[in-house]
Amino acid sequence: MKKIKVGVLFGGQSAEHEVSLVSARHVVAAMDKSKYEISLIGITHTGNWLLADDQSKALAHKTVDEQALPAVTLDYTGSDRSLKRNEHGVISEAITELDVIFPVLHGPHGEDGTVQGLFELANVPYVGCGVAASALAMDKVLAKQAFQAVGIPQTDYQAYRSHQWQQDQAAVIKSIEDKFNYPVFVKPANMGSSVGISKAHDQNELVTGINLALNYDLKIIIEESAEGFREVECAVLGNENAKASVVGEIIPGKEFYDYETKYIDDKSELIIPADLPEQAAKQIQHYAVKAFQAIDGSGLARVDFFISTDNQVIYINEINTMPGFTPISMYPKLWQASGVEYPDLIDKLISLGLEKSIQKQKLKTEI
Ligand SMILES: Nc1ncnc2c1ncn2[C@@H]1O[C@H](COP(=O)(O)OP(=O)(O)O)[C@@H](O)[C@H]1O
Ligand SMILES: [Mg+2]
Repeated sequence: MKKIKVGVLFGGQSAEHEVSLVSARHVVAAMDKSKYEISLIGITHTGNWLLADDQSKALAHKTVDEQALPAVTLDYTGSDRSLKRNEHGVISEAITELDVIFPVLHGPHGEDGTVQGLFELANVPYVGCGVAASALAMDKVLAKQAFQAVGIPQTDYQAYRSHQWQQDQAAVIKSIEDKFNYPVFVKPANMGSSVGISKAHDQNELVTGINLALNYDLKIIIEESAEGFREVECAVLGNENAKASVVGEIIPGKEFYDYETKYIDDKSELIIPADLPEQAAKQIQHYAVKAFQAIDGSGLARVDFFISTDNQVIYINEINTMPGFTPISMYPKLWQASGVEYPDLIDKLISLGLEKSIQKQKLKTEI
């Protein structure tokens, strides 16, 4: 059988660059080498694409930037899916043609529809959500509007823009304090891995939090805190007939699940499946698929929720279209607990990407 040529993209221009390398290491390790011919493509912090020849070495580094590798580019001009050599901006011969790309990229420029747009232009099938779904999910404000439209409950929120803050800080603070009680969460609208997120317990922390979040985005979101709620997550897999996994719980081991707790210390704990009444778990699975459909998702997503201790109130928190794939990540673990082993999960994700592309190829491009 002819091997499927998979381009695995990792790194990228995001604060989640290093996390992406850990995820990619895990994804590549789980890929069946008898089925797939893998091209490892690292993206530097400045956006250069580099082709790694030695797989084990490339993924053992913390960042792509530390590696002296040949530059490549995905040629989008000829629709021939080719990865070409790029020497000082001069694009020369094709190195390989890719059958599918697995963008193991987290955060802006990876999970937000931008790189998916490039794949579309280059006519390369890819794993995961398309342009619109990726962009919607990455923008916490737009995502909340999509959830609201289909009636999935969530905490109160309000978006603000950088220029409002620059023009009149007092007015922004007043509008927040009129609407919410402390504590509130302050988040950049487009980010992930808890980067730029803080929990403000008073006005001082609110000001610090807003300034922090505005380092990462021109738009921020303030949210009511789901105080005392448990944090649970559900994995979704599929295109049209997407299915939900069992539900898992995160015990952050800190006041909230911040960057450190996610990736650095191992104080947080995952409980799979979460200890929940069947009814509550079913409701979460139902909302997870509904949220996936609300953003027009395809392939995969992890949908995160809060649930009150009496299991009566469920709020959606967010949807992640390229969830972590590290050894301690929830997404692959949830599927494993639902009967899908890691290598099978990778196979399924690749075939879903290929299937979607085949369906799209059949569409008319002319009247
Ligand atoms: N409204 C909220 N109420 C309670 N906890 C929250 C709320 N929003 C975020 N958190 C906490 O902060 C963490 C990170 O926020 P989240 O919106 O999931 O950002 P990211 O996209 O970076 O993962 C969550 O996992 C949770 O622990
Ligand atoms: Mg999150």
